[in-house]
Amino acid sequence: MQLRGNWNYPTSVRFGAGRIAELADAVKSIGMANPLFVTDPLLAKLPMTQAAVQSLSAAGLSAKVFSDIKPNPIEPNVSAGVAAFKSGAHDGVVAFGGGSALDVGKLIAFLSGQTRPIWDFEDIGDWWTRANAASIAPIVAVPTTAGTGSEVGRAAVVTHEASHTKKIIFHPLMMPKVTICDPELTVGMPAIITAGTGMDAFSHCLEAYCGPFYHPLADGIAVEGMRLVKENLETAVKDGKNLEARAHMMSAAAMGATSFQKALGAIHSLSHPVGSLYDTHHGLTNGVFMPYVLVFNRQAIEERIERLAAYLGLKPKFRAFLDLVLRLREETGVPHTLAGLKVTDEKIDTIVDMAPKDPTAAGNRMPLDKRGAAPSSNARWMGGCEGALSPRLGSSRPSRDLTNGC
Ligand SMILES: NC(=O)c1ccc[n+]([C@@H]2O[C@H](COP(=O)([O-])OP(=O)(O)OC[C@H]3O[C@@H](n4cnc5c(N)ncnc54)[C@H](O)[C@@H]3O)[C@@H](O)[C@H]2O)c1
Ligand SMILES: [Fe+2]
Repeated sequence: MQLRGNWNYPTSVRFGAGRIAELADAVKSIGMANPLFVTDPLLAKLPMTQAAVQSLSAAGLSAKVFSDIKPNPIEPNVSAGVAAFKSGAHDGVVAFGGGSALDVGKLIAFLSGQTRPIWDFEDIGDWWTRANAASIAPIVAVPTTAGTGSEVGRAAVVTHEASHTKKIIFHPLMMPKVTICDPELTVGMPAIITAGTGMDAFSHCLEAYCGPFYHPLADGIAVEGMRLVKENLETAVKDGKNLEARAHMMSAAAMGATSFQKALGAIHSLSHPVGSLYDTHHGLTNGVFMPYVLVFNRQAIEERIERLAAYLGLKPKFRAFLDLVLRLREETGVPHTLAGLKVTDEKIDTIVDMAPKDPTAAGNRMPLDKRGAAPSSNARWMGGCEGALSPRLGSSRPSRDLTNGC
């Protein structure tokens, strides 16, 4: 089967190897003539990125590059980008990269036409209606990782430095007008980033599927997204040039972000403070927390997980799915505890305090309060196991309790 297609859900997606060649056409198709090309500093140096920029100028589009973006982007990255957008009189954004560059690109397009500060548009209630929708610039998105799904999402994540908090900024028109999903662009992704971004896609599907709201459309997308990760992540990590595995992972990423319109949960609630306090990779951090959160939520999600396990070709048992998660992590090199991400234990109280306040906590089946988020004081959190949050207690391998007690 040729892994290629033109999709119109959730936005216009040109999917398939080599389709980056259509970038200039995609830009012109939405009336953009002078895009700001937003990427990160590492990607800006890669030949594939330079080729994409050149393809725009060859087509008569005067694209300038903005790349002052750090992983886990911060607000000054966005305001510097907005200044570049305005000084170059740009009329749209090409966002090219992983979630960090895509999110900043989307935020530049969004904020370039607003008078209010970025934090007024946090994803709270109807705050998005504060925006002047007519002034939001169009976006063409080109992912180079396969995880966040930001290329098909209406939100962007940015760190509020003063409070070390990852905030979600939302507006329906932050959805890119056109997305080019070209799996060839992910071939050079390092194995550990492939693993981490793959776990991000998996966690989006899993948390959406387990969320407490009625949304069968999202559920259907999420289960197939998880199947694609199960069948392809290990190959993508170990054989990065395998385009079939890369293509399926790219689809799974888009499916994760499409399904998490329903909900995210405690994996993200815990991962967000760790990412903003320690600058860990988002998807890898999710991967560390995943089995612990599964065990924590077990009584509320067991029946759903059994159905999911059956769909995935596993024994229809919670334990079979938990084993799959543990195996996936081990085979792709995702650490079992935060110690493996060089997170020390000095800020654990802060993390425990922040996690229940993260907006994603509301989408977790079991109430995530401070007691629930605590690593050692609460046996429920770990299902009687060692603490994921506590590197002092955490070993580098799953404990007997986690692997056998479930
Ligand atoms: N908007 C959303 O809905 C959403 C969802 C989940 C996560 N996020 C956010 O996205 C960010 C994480 O994004 P990410 O996981 O894609 O990582 P990233 O964008 O931070 O990239 C990680 C590293 O990989 C490099 N890289 C990217 N593509 C590459 C390639 N093809 N070849 C070689 N190197 C490459 C980057 O230069 C960077 O150094 C976090 O800030 C996270 O909070 C957003
Ligand atoms: Fe995520």
